[in-house]
Amino acid sequence: MLGTSLAVTLVLSAIALTFGRVNAAAGAPPPSVVCGQGTTITLVPSVSACWQATTASTVAATTTSPTPSTATEPPATTTVPPTSSDPSSTTADTTTAASSPAAAAGTGPAPATRSLDGSGNNTSHPTWGEAGTPYARSAPDNYADNAGSMVSGPSPRHISNLVFNDLGQNVFSENDISQWGWAWGQFIDHDMDLRDETPAEAAPIPFDPNDPFERFDNQVGQIDFFRTPAAPGTGNSPSNPRQQVNTISSFIDASQVYGSTPARRDWLTAADGYDLMLPNQFLPTAGAHGDSAAAPAMDLMGPLAGNPGQARVAGDVRANENFALTALQTLFAREHNRIADALPTTLSPQDRFEIARRVVGAEIERITYTEFLPALGVQLGAYHGYNPKVDPAITNEFATVAFRAHSMVHGEFEPTVPARTYDATQLDQFRSEGVAIENNADGTITLVIPLGVTFGNPVLLEQVGLGPALESLGEREYKNDEQIDDSLRSTLFEVPKPGIDPSSCGEPVVNPDCFSDVADLGADDVQRGRDHGMPTYNKLRKAYGLDAAHSFTDITGEKTDALPTGMTCNDPAILAFTSLKDENGNPVPVGDPDNAVQATRASTLAARLKCLYGSVEKVDAFVGMVSEKHVRGTEFGPLQLAIWKAQFTALRDGDRFFYQGDDGLRQLEQRYGIDDNRTLSQLVELDSGQHVAADVFKAS
Ligand code: HEM
Repeated sequence: MLGTSLAVTLVLSAIALTFGRVNAAAGAPPPSVVCGQGTTITLVPSVSACWQATTASTVAATTTSPTPSTATEPPATTTVPPTSSDPSSTTADTTTAASSPAAAAGTGPAPATRSLDGSGNNTSHPTWGEAGTPYARSAPDNYADNAGSMVSGPSPRHISNLVFNDLGQNVFSENDISQWGWAWGQFIDHDMDLRDETPAEAAPIPFDPNDPFERFDNQVGQIDFFRTPAAPGTGNSPSNPRQQVNTISSFIDASQVYGSTPARRDWLTAADGYDLMLPNQFLPTAGAHGDSAAAPAMDLMGPLAGNPGQARVAGDVRANENFALTALQTLFAREHNRIADALPTTLSPQDRFEIARRVVGAEIERITYTEFLPALGVQLGAYHGYNPKVDPAITNEFATVAFRAHSMVHGEFEPTVPARTYDATQLDQFRSEGVAIENNADGTITLVIPLGVTFGNPVLLEQVGLGPALESLGEREYKNDEQIDDSLRSTLFEVPKPGIDPSSCGEPVVNPDCFSDVADLGADDVQRGRDHGMPTYNKLRKAYGLDAAHSFTDITGEKTDALPTGMTCNDPAILAFTSLKDENGNPVPVGDPDNAVQATRASTLAARLKCLYGSVEKVDAFVGMVSEKHVRGTEFGPLQLAIWKAQFTALRDGDRFFYQGDDGLRQLEQRYGIDDNRTLSQLVELDSGQHVAADVFKAS
């Protein structure tokens, strides 16, 4: 047993290296955890204490309640771009309306630009999709008192141990989707939604060291969890139940690149007024403008909590979370500058900025709708132009349940480069961080980078290089099923205990002996669902027009929900993998790290759900959704597919600036030769010099 003082030292060092959001400029944190602007949590020795605990949003929450999705205004009669006199140009962004590109060029009416915060997109309902308004709801809320208190249910960590636990076995996408699938998903999520991360009431997730399925230690004894604050004025009665605020603009409008507020946008803009600041072609640190105290806040996770000056600043506070995300943030900041730099110098800096922003937003939309969604099997109905009756706001069900595709996240990155790409010192540095180096027969080397090494580590991207980082996303991603990699499910944003060799911690699978605390994103997803009053699984199915499941096997599509003879719900043997198959249905040895797309365990998933819930009516929405059998040709079960379809259709039809109906883009192309019709593969090549597959979403 550890002596008390040693234990305290270990805990405090773990705290100092974990997550919170502080102004990126703040100095090194004291032994207490600085979790948000002005929010210091002392004596809460856990990672998750801080990854819940973040700064008050820079966007003020409003008292608007969720808006109905119908409007009285007539349908749009034209898709001609609005003019600069539109209200959308004048809300929340003082730079756009007055200085339109066409006005500068003297060639007639100008296409208006989106506001930064999404306000005014719908002229009759200017708050639809606006940052700082509550998430919409598509199903009745579900609170214990019908007003705001959380429903109870099985312990989320126990659910995680029994359902999300992959025992270190990799199982891959059955449709050969590459890691671009999850990376793009997370990147656009940070364009669409972010709850108010200010910690409200504590609602810790119990941790039971005696759970027979528990393989990790947790010196803290619980998994800290803080509720999302109630949207102002809500949660006081069943007639006015608790709502939660989406702090960023709902629209796919590149807000993760530019921010949803003028203050963040202005800080990110370089001295010339049209480019984004990209010293050495990478995202800036807080000190890039000299006065680091004035930098916009960024979430600090993992090592960044102990080294906030290393955080890179971007349009979204989460940009430093992992390697792939920081790479995409960097790619699109470069893309902005590529376009802004190509525009005529006769245009004002503001016009160059806004034209590039408009094109970047269109590119992100186009890639989402023509590459990402089809690759994952999400087919939407035909587009009939802007429909002002459609409320595009992100729903709570989408953000809190359906878009949390954490299961797809692959546990490592493997960039392969010519052997002499890095010098010996750099290679040693990689090894010391826990990156393995493999020498290949063709003279290349492969860096094997565990996902956990990349949390809160933006410097690693600069050391590896943007091109190799993006190349590494060509590998297959994990199957979007009920399993979640342990780097998210147990050691999220944790750093190894002092004195541990990091190379023993992440490869080939997460080593529980390296870590002293548990942070579990899957358990958090379940708890967040209860926090936000998400309906049960069956009620959510009904809200999306699907029949209720009558049995656990209805959910999973398996043959039985009975445990094997002689086994009980508490027997760890029920989790054991018994067989694996590859994409052609051929057997793969259990433990194979590269080829399995189908796995069978000693017990069915239905049997384990029955152990947890007893009745199918009690299943948490997130748990039931990820347990569903996939619709053929897609990465999803019917419920997740239905929610994605509904949300992406609303985001398309209810966006007045949606790229397909935006004639302003055509005008820009004619006037300035700016082409927004590029694939993601082409953008990677243009902005990083890296050649990748033409369809990046298919694994190479
Ligand atoms: C390494 C990869 C990832 C990490 C470390 C990560 C981490 C997190 C964390 C810490 C949260 C906050 C949880 C809470 O307290 O409620 C979160 C929320 C969320 N994540 Fe992830 N995530 C990852 C990948 C993804 C992917 C691939 C997707 C979707 C394709 C996704 C979608 C979401 C959504 C929708 C939310 C809720 C956002 C909101 O506040 O509205 N994440 N994630």
